[in-house]
Formats: sequence, C-alpha cells, structure tokens
Amino acid sequence: MAAEMHQVDQVIRQRLASEVALINQISHYIVSAGGKRIRPRLVLLFAEALGFTGPERFELAASVEFIHTATLLHDDVVDESSLRRGRKTANALFGNAASVLVGDFLYSRAFQMMVSVNRMRVLEVLADATNVIAEGEVLQLMNMHDPDLGVDDYLRVIRYKTAKLFEASARLGAVLAGAEPAIEEACADYGRSLGTAFQIVDDLLDYDGDTVTLGKNVGDDLREGKPTLPLLVAMSRCSEVERQLMRHAVEHGEPDRLDEILTIVRRTGALQATHEAARAEADKARDALSALPASAAREALLELCARSVERSS
Ligand code: IPE
Ligand code: IPE
Ligand code: MG
Ligand code: MG
Repeated sequence: MAAEMHQVDQVIRQRLASEVALINQISHYIVSAGGKRIRPRLVLLFAEALGFTGPERFELAASVEFIHTATLLHDDVVDESSLRRGRKTANALFGNAASVLVGDFLYSRAFQMMVSVNRMRVLEVLADATNVIAEGEVLQLMNMHDPDLGVDDYLRVIRYKTAKLFEASARLGAVLAGAEPAIEEACADYGRSLGTAFQIVDDLLDYDGDTVTLGKNVGDDLREGKPTLPLLVAMSRCSEVERQLMRHAVEHGEPDRLDEILTIVRRTGALQATHEAARAEADKARDALSALPASAAREALLELCARSVERSS
C-alpha cells in the first residue's frame, strides 16, 4: 500500500496548512513523527476490497487520521504524558493550552474535509464516532482511581474511546463503495473487534512493552491509577495482601511500588490472559471478513489482525 499511503500523507500535509504559525508548528510536529496510520489504512483497504477507487477515499483516510491525531493531543494532556511517537509530547513542549486548541483545529479541519466528500452518510458516521470517543474519554475519567471497576466497564471504555474510530474507518470504506447494509455491518464489526484488540494490546504494552520501541512511556497507566485489563486480571488472581496493595495503587497512583506490582501481574499470568483476550477479539475481526469477496485487500486486512495482536510498537 506504499503508493496509496503516500497519497494519504500528501493530503494530510496539504490540509494541515493554516495561517496561524503555532498551528502549523504543532500539527507538523506530531504528524511528522509518524505513527502507524492504521485507521486510514482501514478506509483504503475496505474501499478497495469492495471495489471503490475514487479519490474521495484519500480525503476520508486523511480525515480519520486527523481525528485520531486530535484525540492524541487531547489524550496526552489528560493523561499528563510526556512521550509520544518517540518524541516529547506536544503538551510537554508547547503546553496544555496549545495542545488542546490545536487538537480542536484538527478536529474541525477533519469535519471540513469530510463535508467536501458531499455525502450525508459519511458525516453521520463520523459525527457519531467523534461523539462516542468523547464519551469514552469522559467515562474513563470517571473510572480513574476506581479499584472496583469491572471488566465490562473497562471494555465499554475501550469500545468507545478506541474501537469506535476503527469501526467508523472500516464502515467508511463500505459507505464509499455503496455496499449493502449487511456488508457494511460486517466491515463495522471487523473495525470494532480489531479496535478492541488493538487497545487491549496497548494496555498490555503499557505493562510489558519497551519504551524505546513503543515511543511512549511504559507504566503510565498504573502510575495514573488507570485500571486496565492486566491489573484487573491480576487483582482477581492474587492473594488478599497483594490485592490491597494493588487497590491502594489504583486509588492513589503509586509510582514507588511499580516493580512490586509488575511482579504480581507477571506471576498471576495476567499478561498472558490479556494477550489471550486480544487474540479472541482479533479472531472475531477475522471472522467478520468472511462476508467480503476474496481479494488482496482482504488478505491485507487478515494480516492486520495478526499484526495488531503480535505488535511491540
Ligand atoms: C494510540 O494509537 C492510541 C490508542 C488508541 C492506543 P496508535 O497506536 O494507533 O498511535 P500511532 O498513530 O501509531 O502513534
Ligand atoms: C487511547 O488510550 C486514547 C485514545 C483513544 C485517544 P491510551 O491513553 O491508552 O493511549 P496512549 O497509550 O496514550 O497512546
Ligand atoms: Mg494516553
Ligand atoms: Mg496506552
């Protein structure tokens, strides 16, 4: 897909332009740091798998990457993160206010781009997705420091904050291609399951990853008191004394006991269980693809399932 992704990158660069210097500076700073560009890939692959090759696909692919980038700018402020894509975060370098405002610029630019495609259904899909993402981030905020959070509550947050944009990206490919409703739903199912698997792995890597490979700080979730799946599983399997230690860490955020907690998470097999949960979601995504005709694009979507689960960055 190198040539097609190059086209997406060209649209991205063109549409970043603003007369306001700080907007150009911050948006280029984060966009030029790279990123995996998974969401735009989904738009292109589903459009291709269903036979659509018009230029609108590049505009929409760039648009979902802008929405993603906006959520990252906002998320790093909320999470007080200092490293992203191997660089200092925009908030660390330019401050919280600038990050939030440039995030707003990218959000609204994304909407200008989707309007240019001139299809009401596209607007509907992306308006719904961005609204649900915002709900997910707020839900997560409400769940912070709650040691009694259940797996269902955790899954709801990740379906909203992450899987929804994957779902919308996949669905847009089908919408562009004018696919029938059952096919569109299969594409959406794929996106939702892949996005869920993807965030579960992100949460796993926050415990088990390598900062340099990941380009993000490891251990931030625990430090922040954000209860994610590795911790939820470990808490359900450890001794009472250990559970009290972990509850305390979630309630107060406890950077000093990080190593101790990591040992418990490892010993209880919580990392394997988390990986297993991600694999099960990726399998669901794979199953959804059987509704699509065989093609090179469908093969690439299959491969994306495996890569999203086995990744280290
Ligand atoms: C990071 O997404 C935020 C999550 C939803 C986990 P990505 O891992 O897709 O970030 P980039 O774009 O590749 O940096
Ligand atoms: C994903 O959650 C955030 C968004 C969907 C915006 P995280 O907070 O885990 O993402 P990272 O780890 O900072 O990329
Ligand atoms: Mg974050
Ligand atoms: Mg994370």
